[in-house]
Amino acid sequence: SPVAAQQTSRFAFEQLAPQTDGTVHVPNGYSWDVLVRWGDPLFPDAPAFDPETGIPTEGSDRVFGENTDGMELFHQGGTELLVVNSEYPNPKINLPASQDGEASSADDVLRLQNFQGVNVMEVVEGADGWSVVVDSAYNRRIHHNTPMVIDGPAAGHDLLKTAADETGTQSLGTFNNCGSGRTPWGTYLTCEENFNGYFGTTQEVLGDEAVMQGYRRYGVSTDIDAGRYNYHGFDARFDISQNPNEPHRAGYIVEIDPWDPEATPVKHTALGRFKHENAAYALTPEGRVVVYMGDDERGEFMYKWVSTGIYVAGGDTSTLLSDGQLFVARFDDDMTGQWVALTPEATGMEPAEISIFTRMAASAVGATTMDRPEWIAVNPTAVEAYCCLTNNRNRGAKEDGGVVKTNAGGDPMEVNAVNPREINNYGQIVRWRPHEDDHGAESFDWDLYVMAGNPEVHGDDLYAGTANINAGNLFNSPDGMQIDTAGLIWIQTDGDDSNEGDFAGMGNNQMLAGDPATGEIRRFLTGPNGCEVTGLTWSADRRTMFVGIQHPGQPFPDGEGSLPRSAIVTVTRDDNALVG
Ligand code: FEO
Ligand code: CA
Ligand code: CA
Ligand code: CA
Repeated sequence: SPVAAQQTSRFAFEQLAPQTDGTVHVPNGYSWDVLVRWGDPLFPDAPAFDPETGIPTEGSDRVFGENTDGMELFHQGGTELLVVNSEYPNPKINLPASQDGEASSADDVLRLQNFQGVNVMEVVEGADGWSVVVDSAYNRRIHHNTPMVIDGPAAGHDLLKTAADETGTQSLGTFNNCGSGRTPWGTYLTCEENFNGYFGTTQEVLGDEAVMQGYRRYGVSTDIDAGRYNYHGFDARFDISQNPNEPHRAGYIVEIDPWDPEATPVKHTALGRFKHENAAYALTPEGRVVVYMGDDERGEFMYKWVSTGIYVAGGDTSTLLSDGQLFVARFDDDMTGQWVALTPEATGMEPAEISIFTRMAASAVGATTMDRPEWIAVNPTAVEAYCCLTNNRNRGAKEDGGVVKTNAGGDPMEVNAVNPREINNYGQIVRWRPHEDDHGAESFDWDLYVMAGNPEVHGDDLYAGTANINAGNLFNSPDGMQIDTAGLIWIQTDGDDSNEGDFAGMGNNQMLAGDPATGEIRRFLTGPNGCEVTGLTWSADRRTMFVGIQHPGQPFPDGEGSLPRSAIVTVTRDDNALVG
């Protein structure tokens, strides 16, 4: 029983077996339910969801968005707000009438733009479980055309100016909102990841060398009509031959006040421009604000922001994400590391350039290329943090001629101690402990909390994984991660769910819990085949866990005859005890 399990370990559940079907599973003694799905109403006037055609363009900004990802819960005075990212569209599902899942009109583009961004919604628990309060005055959709302000060193720089915004301080929309974060003062942070995919061009691009170099480093294609979602064909803002600086206005951490539906979101350029996964905060002993951030691309880096000012509850927080220092991580093979400050002296770049072309600044100081840094989690019960390094098929791989492959900036991805496997298809989680028990310290010790692997397939080599991987808890590609207030590490996966070959015995993507002290890891939840499990938070009373199911490959959760719908599910204990 769950009670017996609790007595012998920190886990209040028995491990779930791997699953391969089209629905969600949780351990005995727990239950799950659907809270909200793509297309569900967030306002009383939202259009009804049609199981075959989805949502029309008119009203597509009044429903819960597509591809649920990072989320945070805020509460005050008995009101609970769930703030959730909608990362990217699935055009074949969102535009079911389209040819080959391609946006073929301005109307199609607008519908996709409306399905993405951020959802703010009040949630309430009633006799039948949790639901969205559809008529709450707090509900809000932030999408690809919502006005934002830009602050920090890059605000007003020439590289941020466009025909529509000659000030370089006002932009529209937040893009590819992947992981999440929160601030000590109760605002939401949404993290712009693969923003490059929204841009394309209708003609040859003739930018200056710095701009062209930036496009290459960040993956903004200059191939005619290569834009992944075909925005550029119908919305000139995304055509870089017409608006070459528009991509420089995306790729940031964006702060949103969840309690004020009229508040203008703020793009914080001081925290750097890259493919932001999430933003995990800590406070230094004297109260400076630290924000850890990963750049999710093969061979890119891990970063840390440290504010100049001190956080004081109820005090002025307006400069804490604009005045400070950005650092990038160097992981040395002796299992120590350094946070290297991205200063003008160290990089040869002006502050605004460091903010806009952060990847190049990090390359200039010799940062360690990583195996795709996804979510970072700070342990609230110890001075340490963890990062999921999800996988990297190019680690240690060689080009013709024997040269080790590089990231887009030419930094080699040689095997090293923190990224120890060539052709790393399983991923690992690195943990670091800052020196002097101070997240503001510039040095740290690190180890690998786990290397995922498959001892059933690979015997005892590096691909078997670390000792805390066994036949019962197999997984690959750790991605989402949160550490609960009791110190358990919740790990979500976004990997190969074929359940065969190297991945045999792993089943569908899943969520596991890890004990930081013993290293023990147990499977807790499995998603429907084809999905990724991403996004995790708790109700104010911690008796409900909210878990995101992104891009299910089945008609989940409505069943046969319906389009697949990304969904947030609730997980509760049948005895109503705390979850985690
Ligand atoms: Fe949107 Fe790196 O995950
Ligand atoms: Ca992710
Ligand atoms: Ca991923
Ligand atoms: Ca994803």
